[in-house]
Amino acid sequence: MRTTVTVIKADIGSIGGHLKPSEGLLKLVKSRVEAEKGKLIIDCYVSHTGDDIAILCTHNKGKNSSEIHKMAWDTLMEGANLAKKQGLYGAGQDLLKDAFSGNVKGLGPAVAELEFDERPNEPFLFFAADKTDPGAYNLPLYLGFCDPMHCSGLILSSKMAKGFRFEIMDVSYTEKDRIITLNAPEELYDIAALLRDPERFVVAAVYSKESGEQVTAASTTRLHNIAGKYVGKDDPIMLVRVQGNFPATGEVLSPYALGHYVAGFMRGSHNGPLMPVKLNSTISYFDGPPVVSCAAFCVHEGHLTEAVDAFDHPFWDYVRQEVSKKGIEIRRQGFFGNAMLPMSELEYGGIADKLRGLEERFVTKD
Ligand code: F6R
Ligand code: MG
Ligand code: MG
Repeated sequence: MRTTVTVIKADIGSIGGHLKPSEGLLKLVKSRVEAEKGKLIIDCYVSHTGDDIAILCTHNKGKNSSEIHKMAWDTLMEGANLAKKQGLYGAGQDLLKDAFSGNVKGLGPAVAELEFDERPNEPFLFFAADKTDPGAYNLPLYLGFCDPMHCSGLILSSKMAKGFRFEIMDVSYTEKDRIITLNAPEELYDIAALLRDPERFVVAAVYSKESGEQVTAASTTRLHNIAGKYVGKDDPIMLVRVQGNFPATGEVLSPYALGHYVAGFMRGSHNGPLMPVKLNSTISYFDGPPVVSCAAFCVHEGHLTEAVDAFDHPFWDYVRQEVSKKGIEIRRQGFFGNAMLPMSELEYGGIADKLRGLEERFVTKD
């Protein structure tokens, strides 16, 4: 059976600042999406990571289906109205346009979609990150798909020996999708040269060279490119098919033990370590730390199993402790140097006005 998995995610309001949507809001979104089961969609899973609500649904309408996108958009709009009534903070903040025009891309919500012929058993992972941006997945995808230090299948399984094809997007180009396709392992250094700049180059998709199938789909929205000003970080979502011709679940998860530094954290303006957290986690220290959750599923004829929380394990408790130490360590440096993002990432904030104001007070002396 040909199945599509679509995830559409937005921050439409949260409690106590940018921490977590209300139970009432989650309930409303869930009930609206569930009402479409057996009609527009086959199955669904509604969740939150930090202040973001994600609608994951399975269907057979293919990628970019205007019906599916409209259902999600209408649901999020209705949710934003409830958030306003409840007085939630930042109600409707990611819904940047008023009118729906066939697709949620460019309207604010993040979207990731995979369409595939189901294997007899079809496991996949759904990642959702908060207080960071799409480049956060660059390093784990590189390590999980190109590096045998994490993905032992690259040397142990003949199904992965050919490697993977990366589609990398230049997210600073806003007129259209500007994409380069590069092959691992042949062009590994070219891939690394781009992925080292996660604010500009973002892995949009990965394909198996063995079967040609799409393995991953990640959201690439950069809200400030749509809004023209800072309106919160982009909090990316990602789908990853696993096992068989693709990396095993544990190989895809392995790089998250690093707690690598990503852009985001307080006011989307700092570097902080990415902490793998349990499903439906909230946000706390310094409006962070940047977090990522992972729900594991099997899908059969479009029907989802229950979600398994991939980061709910004693191993990840230890990682969380280590990542907390990294978070505290970089915060000791406050605003200085690498602790805060470079000006190119702060250009839409108040600091640009401040520096413009100071500009005229400079004097030149011999
Ligand atoms: C980061 C984030 C928060 C806010 C911060 C200030 O994505 O959402 O760190 O930037 O709490 O929020 P405002 O300006 O809404 O008071
Ligand atoms: Mg937010
Ligand atoms: Mg968020």
